Amino acid sequence: MPYEPFRYQTAGELQTAAEALGVSLPLAADTAVLCTSVRFAGMTLPNRLGTAPMEGADALPNGAPSELTARRYIRNAEGGSALVWFEAVCMTGDGRSSAGQLLLNSDTLDAFKRLTERVKEAGLRANGYAPLLVMQVNHSGRYANPGGKPAPKIAYRHPYLERFRPASDADIVSDDYLRKLEEKYGEAAALAKKAGFDAADIKACHGYLSAELLSALPRPGAYGGSYENRTRFLKNAVAAALPHADAGFFITARIGIYDGYPESYGFGAAGKDDPAPDYTEPIRLLGELHERYGLAAVNLTMGNPYVTTHVTRPFDRGMYDPPEHPLTGIARMIDGIAAVKRAVPGLTVYASAPSYLRQFADLFTAGAVEEGRCDGMLFGRLSFADPDFANEILKTGRLDPKHVCLTCGKCGDLIRSHYPTGCAVRDTQTYLPYYRQYLAGRAALPENFRG
Ligand SMILES: Cc1cc2nc3c(=O)[nH]c(=O)nc-3n(C[C@H](O)[C@H](O)[C@H](O)COP(=O)(O)O)c2cc1C
Repeated sequence: MPYEPFRYQTAGELQTAAEALGVSLPLAADTAVLCTSVRFAGMTLPNRLGTAPMEGADALPNGAPSELTARRYIRNAEGGSALVWFEAVCMTGDGRSSAGQLLLNSDTLDAFKRLTERVKEAGLRANGYAPLLVMQVNHSGRYANPGGKPAPKIAYRHPYLERFRPASDADIVSDDYLRKLEEKYGEAAALAKKAGFDAADIKACHGYLSAELLSALPRPGAYGGSYENRTRFLKNAVAAALPHADAGFFITARIGIYDGYPESYGFGAAGKDDPAPDYTEPIRLLGELHERYGLAAVNLTMGNPYVTTHVTRPFDRGMYDPPEHPLTGIARMIDGIAAVKRAVPGLTVYASAPSYLRQFADLFTAGAVEEGRCDGMLFGRLSFADPDFANEILKTGRLDPKHVCLTCGKCGDLIRSHYPTGCAVRDTQTYLPYYRQYLAGRAALPENFRG
C-alpha cells in the first residue's frame, strides 16, 4: 500500500489499517503499565516514559548550552519524563554536526553542570522526582559540519550515501585516528559524570562514524571486514568509558540495529544487495555489550535520518514521499527492537519512534511494554510538540490529541539547516521565527540547492 498521511480517529481504525498492511501494532486497552517503575543499573525510574535525544543546534559559540537549550530540557523534566536522554553532544571540534551543536570540554563543563542541576531541580519541583539524565556522545563522521561547512570523516566509500553527500578517499579516517578517538569517549564519559549526568551514551546509530563502522565490510585493516573488526571501535569506546562507571553513573548506548539502505552496505541487513532486515549481527552485538561489557540498558533505533528518514522517524510530511506506508515503518521498528529484547531478555531496552502515531502513541507504547517488546519508550518529535506528554499520560491516562506532533517535518528542516530547533507548530512564539528565517533562506537559493 502506498504512503498515506495519518487519518485515524480511533485505535480500532489504526489497528484495521495495520492489519490491511499485514503488520501488527501492539495497542493496549489503557496506559496503566506506563505508570509502573523500571529498574536497571541500580537505579529505579518511576515510569516508562522518556524524552528522546533531539538535537537543537542552539549552543553558544563555544559549544556551551544556551538559555534556549536549558528551556528545552527544563520543559521535558517538568513534563514528567523519568528519563531525559540528551541530544548528541560532541567531544572533538572536528566531529561537530554544526557550529550550533553542544560541545563538552573543560571550557564548557561548568555550564553543563549548571544545566543538569537546573533540569533536575525542575523535575523534582514539578513532579517530586528528578529525571535520569543521559548524555549522548557523538562524532558526526560523514555528516561533520564543524564550522558550518561539510568536513566529512568517513569509515569507507559508500556509493549510495555519496549520491546525497559527496565524499572522497581523503575523507576516510585512518586506524590511528580511530584509536585516538576511542580514548576520547573515555574522556567524554568522565566529563559527563563531572557535569552531573547519570549516564553516558556511546552512540552508534543514524549513519554517524561509530555506526558507519558497523557496516564497513569493504574497509581494510583492524576496523573493517569481519564482524569483530567492524564492532571493534564501538566496543573499545565503551571499554574506554567503563572505568568511569560507578553506583551513581552508568554507561549505555543508542544503537542503530538496521540502516535501511535500499542498496549497498548497511548494518542489520541481509546482504549488500538485499536490504531486508537481518538482526543476527545486531543481536550478537547487543548480547556482547550486555554480557561481556555489562551494559544494563540501551536505546534502540534504526535508519539514517539523512537518507532513510522514513525508517528512523515515519512521517506525514518530509523531504520526499516515503516508499512505504508509515505504519510499515512503525511496525519494522518495534518488531526489530522486540527481536533484540527477546534474544537478550536481561537487557533493559528503550524503544524509539512513536510520534507518527499521534494520540495513539501512548496505547502503542503501553502495548509494546505489556507484550515485552521493550521496557520503555523515548518520545522524540512529540516531546518537542508537547513537553508535557508524560504527565498527560500519567495523570489523565491519555495524550491530548490537541497537543500531539503532526510529523510535519518542520523540526527536521530546522535541524538540517542548523537553525535552533523545536516545534514551529505548537511552540510558535519561540520557533516560528526561526522557521520563517529558514523558509526565506531557502527561497533565496536556486531550486537545485533547496535541500
Ligand atoms: C530535529 C531532530 C533532532 C534529532 N536529534 C537526535 C540526536 O541528537 N540524537 C539521536 O540519537 N537522535 C536524534 N533524533 C532522532 C530522535 O531521537 C528519534 O529517534 C526520532 O525522531 C524518532 O522518534 P519520534 O517518532 O518520537 O520522533 C532527532 C530527530 C529530530 C527530528
